[in-house]
Amino acid sequence: MKRYLASAIALSAALSGPALADDAALRETAKDLFGAIPLQAPMLENNVISRDRVDLGAMLFFDPRMSKSGLFSCQSCHNVGIGGVDGLETSVGHGWQAGPRNAPTMLNAVFNVAQFWDGRAPDLAAQAKGPVQAGVEMNNTPDNVEATLKSMPGYVDAFAAAFPGEAEPISFDNFALAIEAFEATLITPNSRFDQFLMGQDGALSDQEKAGLQLFVDTGCASCHGGINFGGQDYYPFGVVEKPGAGVLPEGDKGRFAVTETAGDDYVFRAAPLRNIAITAPYFHSGKVWDLREAVAIMANSQLGEDLNDAQIDDIVAFLGTLTGEQPEVVHPLLPVRTATTPKPAP
Ligand code: HEM
Ligand code: HEM
Repeated sequence: MKRYLASAIALSAALSGPALADDAALRETAKDLFGAIPLQAPMLENNVISRDRVDLGAMLFFDPRMSKSGLFSCQSCHNVGIGGVDGLETSVGHGWQAGPRNAPTMLNAVFNVAQFWDGRAPDLAAQAKGPVQAGVEMNNTPDNVEATLKSMPGYVDAFAAAFPGEAEPISFDNFALAIEAFEATLITPNSRFDQFLMGQDGALSDQEKAGLQLFVDTGCASCHGGINFGGQDYYPFGVVEKPGAGVLPEGDKGRFAVTETAGDDYVFRAAPLRNIAITAPYFHSGKVWDLREAVAIMANSQLGEDLNDAQIDDIVAFLGTLTGEQPEVVHPLLPVRTATTPKPAP
């Protein structure tokens, strides 16, 4: 009887997962390859994250009057309540037009080496100038944005507070800087993976730990590394085998459009995988809704690996631990329009 009890205990210890030493080794491996999201917004190179600037950035982020039609704000496509995405295959913007790409999340985007699927904007401030002017997104002009902002005393005061001492606080450049400051605060710390990294063995289940090990051993981490599990470098989508046109549309050649170098055909930034469980659909085409399918495609196309169902389940379970604390943003009150505020136009 005693012997049965002893072996039952040994068996349950084995089933309850890796011993402590394994957890420590896994943590060391993970620390070498990844990083935890900090609790505070990081410093920016050419910008100051002051309270006034962040508050102004939040107003601009939520204000649909920054679009020509008065209908679209950044929040339309990067909804802070649903992981910073719009949950559409490709975004719908001005005039109900569908754009060519899926909207990536702006959560933790401050940690990416460059912005957009093809990395064509060097930072968040440069990025913010894009959608406002893009015909299929907000379809506005810098002049009209400035005229709109200057027409409302609420914005005149908010820009003066956010850019103290400047002769012309309202400018398209400062519009972008304020949005960048706000976005830098949209980070998601304290995910269960980060808790594990910081020493909590119990933060991950055995299956999630197995998934982390598999993510490393299969080679995913060679592209999806760093604090954001990606967002740091560019790779062909289809290193080993190009996915079909259903997933990788032929017309979008990715980084080729940025560098015009033949080798950059179908090259994209390794997508950041933080919060990936809540940001479907996947890939720049937005064609894949199931994370299991996305993982299987990656293993095939990037590594030439055929993962079995159990392995895919483990990796997907692990990826679920990358969902961090979501920023709870109070919708700001927006300045009231005046008689000189440009009217929305179709
Ligand atoms: C990409 C922010 C408006 C759709 C991005 C990224 C950021 C961002 C930070 C890059 C994220 C990354 O690369 O990981 C903003 C801000 C906006 C705004 C601050 C307001 C000024 C919009 C609107 C739409 C939209 C209104 C939809 C109509 C997209 C799409 C991409 C993107 C489709 C990917 C485009 C590509 O890679 O070529 N946005 N966004 N965004 N956003 Fe926005
Ligand atoms: C995109 C997971 C291996 C490069 C993605 C996405 C997932 C993922 C879930 C979609 C992200 C999104 O839509 O937001 C994995 C897993 C891997 C793996 C689980 C291992 C089995 C790799 C490797 C590379 C790589 C080895 C580089 C050689 C990329 C690139 C994208 C991406 C470039 C963006 C694709 C696009 O433009 O749509 N990965 N990945 N991945 N991954 Fe991986």
